Amino acid sequence: MDRMVITGGNRLCGEVRVSGAKNSALPILASTILGGGECVLTNVPRVVDVLTMGKLLSIFGAEVSHEGNRAVVKTDVIDSTEAPYDLVKTMRASVLTLGPLVARWGKAKVSLPGGCAIGSRPVNLHLAGLAKLGADISLEHGYITAKAKRLKGARIYCDTPTVTGTENLMMAASLAEGTTVLENAAKEPEIIDLADFLIRRGARIEGAGTDDITIEGVRELRGGDHEVIPDRIEAGTYLAAGAITGGDVTITHCRPAHLESVLMKLSEAGADVRIEKERVRVMTPERLRGIDIKTLTYPGFPTDMQAQMVALMCLAEGTSVVTETVFESRFMHVEELRRMGADIRVEGNRLVVTGRQSLTGAPVMASDLRASAGLIIAGLAADGTTEVQRVYHLDRGYERIEEKLRGLGAKIERRSAEIAALS
Ligand code: UD1
Repeated sequence: MDRMVITGGNRLCGEVRVSGAKNSALPILASTILGGGECVLTNVPRVVDVLTMGKLLSIFGAEVSHEGNRAVVKTDVIDSTEAPYDLVKTMRASVLTLGPLVARWGKAKVSLPGGCAIGSRPVNLHLAGLAKLGADISLEHGYITAKAKRLKGARIYCDTPTVTGTENLMMAASLAEGTTVLENAAKEPEIIDLADFLIRRGARIEGAGTDDITIEGVRELRGGDHEVIPDRIEAGTYLAAGAITGGDVTITHCRPAHLESVLMKLSEAGADVRIEKERVRVMTPERLRGIDIKTLTYPGFPTDMQAQMVALMCLAEGTSVVTETVFESRFMHVEELRRMGADIRVEGNRLVVTGRQSLTGAPVMASDLRASAGLIIAGLAADGTTEVQRVYHLDRGYERIEEKLRGLGAKIERRSAEIAALS
């Protein structure tokens, strides 16, 4: 297994281009199942999760080509509607194929995602919503089976705003007979991006990005072109990486409006944040101030930026309280940060972080994508060498992360398992 070796202490400066959003590309790719014709997608990040979604579509019989950041998908012919355990276990977002498969092909068999490093992540709301649309749902031998002649529009209230749940139901309802209203829907920018793509292909959707989304079902969707929005979490990660080193980092090709809560928090902590059209420059003093952060659904502070900000707070002046309200047990980075000398106390779903003058490099291991990013960030500012193991988590969601960080002046390299064995 590859690992990242970081020698901390370099101040990060310069520009870094933000890639396309993984969490937009995934539902958009899944949505290609909803219609015939060709879908041409650009700004698609070349990360492992996206490649996994491509593999899944190929297993269904779709023609998928992915060169650089352009993906072309044709789903005129589908000869399987089964998403196997081996792929689903590596990526929970595989469940995004459930709605499109049952809506267009009348049946779907998708492995239940199962356990996850960031706590219990059920899909009950996806299933309850599909059942309301008339799908016959059953759970057998670890698989979800959904069947329906044609889905029928319905009023669906989501107990909790769920991102992939909203996306699954919005896709399914696009081909249902009649009108669907999704109440208490999630409002993330990735949902608007998916809706824009569906609308371009003939879907009739109003209200994406608000609490209530109304979808008038249509008979079929056509192919279409789409440019995936920039990744707001990747963008925030590079800003946090710059900030922990007292750096001066500009992210380009981003949507500053999607980063509002993160930029507000960086500025509250003492960074100088300058926004231009599609660029954000963050200049950081030698030491930031500790601040309180509470994760929430969009437009609140993203849970996917929590670990990176905790790393930042480990070296800030004073005490910070970080409250996680979206996922239970999303604190897997805490023990590892402690091994680097961080002073963090866990109180239920809150972390009390007392900023230290320094962290020390250590071998660490992350258990999920964003926790890994948090450890990389801590390593950039730690004294000595940090080795982040299990890099495959990072590869699921960050495109060329070591190259991009090196471009900003970081000392970081990937060591493959073979090289590690020899050294
Ligand atoms: C998506 C993102 C993930 C991000 C998360 C929260 C993708 C591919 N992944 O994940 O990166 O961290 O949003 O912003 O877009 N819940 C239920 N029942 C359900 C579904 C969800 O109780 O059926 C709960 C979850 O346990 C969690 C909350 O709802 O507490 C929000 O989760 P959700 O928005 O569904 O996260 P994902 O869509 O899985």
